Amino acid sequence: MNISIFGLGYVGTVCAGCLAKDGHKVIGVDPNAHKVNLINTGASTIIEDDIGDIIKAAVAGKRLSATDSCSDAIAKTDISLVCVGTPSQPNGDLDISQLKRVCTQIGRALQRKSAPHLVVIRSTVIPGTTDDILVPLLEKHSGKKCGHGLLVGYNPEFLREGTSVYDYYNPPKIVIGQMGARPTSLSKIYRDLPAPLIITEIRTAEMVKYADNSFHAVKVVFANEIGNICKQLKVDSHEVMRIFCQDTKLNLSPYYLRPGFAFGGSCLPKDIRAMLYRAKTLDLSVPMLASILPSNELQVKAALDMVEAGGSKKIGLLGLSFKAGTDDLRESPLVKLSEFLIGRGYDLKIYDENVSLAKIFGANKQYIEEGIPHISSLMCPDIQTLLAHAGTLIIGNYTKKYWKALKDGIAKKTVIDLVRCNDIMKAGPARYYGIAW
Ligand SMILES: NC(=O)c1ccc[n+]([C@@H]2O[C@H](COP(=O)([O-])OP(=O)(O)OC[C@H]3O[C@@H](n4cnc5c(N)ncnc54)[C@H](O)[C@@H]3O)[C@@H](O)[C@H]2O)c1
Repeated sequence: MNISIFGLGYVGTVCAGCLAKDGHKVIGVDPNAHKVNLINTGASTIIEDDIGDIIKAAVAGKRLSATDSCSDAIAKTDISLVCVGTPSQPNGDLDISQLKRVCTQIGRALQRKSAPHLVVIRSTVIPGTTDDILVPLLEKHSGKKCGHGLLVGYNPEFLREGTSVYDYYNPPKIVIGQMGARPTSLSKIYRDLPAPLIITEIRTAEMVKYADNSFHAVKVVFANEIGNICKQLKVDSHEVMRIFCQDTKLNLSPYYLRPGFAFGGSCLPKDIRAMLYRAKTLDLSVPMLASILPSNELQVKAALDMVEAGGSKKIGLLGLSFKAGTDDLRESPLVKLSEFLIGRGYDLKIYDENVSLAKIFGANKQYIEEGIPHISSLMCPDIQTLLAHAGTLIIGNYTKKYWKALKDGIAKKTVIDLVRCNDIMKAGPARYYGIAW
């Protein structure tokens, strides 16, 4: 395939070298004459293991060259990968000026080309940048409509500096964001890489890169804060994290990674508080761990704001315990939400099968009757009663067995979903709001 690569920095040079090594004919484009000259003399623009030899062989084999001429590169290639820099501005916002310039240049060059051309953005950008800013620029300057002679995709890069060539050939995943679900020739150039190929919407692909990098940063800071506490408590932090990482069910796994409502229960809040208190007594600052409970509380506040925006004063809350499948109400964020709603004068009714049973039999009977009588008195005997009352229905926790009772009454309701209930989403209530989607 004939591929042009815009930007001969870390990402662009590795892509250019590896794609040429894989047999493609690659033209690198960069306004920096020094970088163009380096490539054309068979030298890498960056220091990374193996890249020097790869570039040298690719240039010697006439599969790789570089130019500062955008129009030349566009005329001679079918796909352009855009790998220009997106640095921070002083206020923290992303500087996309290089991207805007390059899309303007590519657009102008495409005006003079009749064959279809695929432009793939690889630079890291805030979701919406490609669709809302770059596609219009490409369309305006090329005179073509996206989907008609001009195709646009987004393909985030996951390589790490220092191991970039290894990472190129061993990516964790290949994500291609494209308009509609049309397959593009882009997936073909990655055909031989040993990684799952994920085709998604452009905005999703853009966001995946931020989710990844945020999580990587969180992991580093988390390990360091735990390490700093371990050190003070004379515990070997590396042994702790070695054991921690062996848990691929709850720790290094998809568990606890579904956006939704706040956490609660008898353990997480208590144990975080105890850890923070101990850190304080050790004069240790652990800002990330310290931000967990305030952030969790904001999620309760977010649910409250959604109820307020919903308008109805008659609220039905499905679920009260801290998660489905238990009657445990200790530090349940749904109890907290209920208290906020009562405090603001909402006419609240609640149904939770497990809590209803516990009211009669369980170990929680006394707590329900004496600890939270103001909430206990709002409990309905069944879902039908809850539905009949609710102008707005909040799904606080959900089990499949609720569906039989819900399905007939849901169509006319406003639903605030805190758990991402697929049954309700599919059914399509009159108004549906997800807490984090
Ligand atoms: N460096 C990494 O490890 C890494 C990893 C994944 C993603 N990314 C993302 O990839 C993008 C590129 O990062 P990088 O580190 O390679 O950047 P870089 O700054 O090393 O290179 C960018 C290159 O783009 C060139 N350029 C600027 N305007 C141009 C134009 N109009 N036409 C052609 N080239 C132009 C610059 O001269 C420069 O050589 C960024 O968005 C970055 O966030 C970087």
